[in-house]
Amino acid sequence: MFLKIGHRGAAGYEPENTLRSFRRALELGVDMVELDVRRTKDGHLVVMHDETVDRTTNGSGKVSEMTLAEIMELDAGRAEKVPTLDEALDIVHGKVSVDIEVKDAGTGPAIGRFLKDRLARGAKSDGFVVSSFLPRELAIGCYPDVRRVLLVKECVEDGIQAAVALRAWGIGPKSELADENLVKAAHDAGLKVLPWTADDAPLIAKLKKLGVDGAFSNFPDRL
Ligand code: G3P
Ligand code: CA
Repeated sequence: MFLKIGHRGAAGYEPENTLRSFRRALELGVDMVELDVRRTKDGHLVVMHDETVDRTTNGSGKVSEMTLAEIMELDAGRAEKVPTLDEALDIVHGKVSVDIEVKDAGTGPAIGRFLKDRLARGAKSDGFVVSSFLPRELAIGCYPDVRRVLLVKECVEDGIQAAVALRAWGIGPKSELADENLVKAAHDAGLKVLPWTADDAPLIAKLKKLGVDGAFSNFPDRL
């Protein structure tokens, strides 16, 4: 099965990482929604790609130096608020699975505790994936029952080795890095291959031909 993953929801159509974007991704028939998580100054998990709120909201400053109340004041586009991880999961979880990307170093354990709490309250572990470019944030002890994906921007060979060492479920290479060798090496190592991002038809066709297991797209209907 080829997993259709909505990148930051459906960021090609709606303000990224907002509830509106997640709803749109669901309407477009994704199998999984990807979102990015950071921690506020007062310890809340919010959905935000960048280290600062500058690019995606009408505010400025680092997420880690703002309180949740301050972040809630912001407009993230089309009058959308910056969602908490809880709010995002309330929209998505149970409908399709959710890929939670850990952005900040040191937040893996907090995200793991958050997920353990959700699992204890009845959520299914196969409804989640945790991903990160930061191997330390994917330590198996943080997330005993949840699939983990190591994201890789360069040097795929090292990435595959690191993913194996982490006992990860998969590897998420930058799309341009995906080729026959990578797919074979990752599959031989028992890893799924989920490239990011694939927005145009020739690239999507190429990735499918290579036999990848899914892809992230800002326009998930194109997958
Ligand atoms: O999950 C893959 C992709 O989201 C990683 O890159 O910068 O969009 O978070 P970025
Ligand atoms: Ca991401």
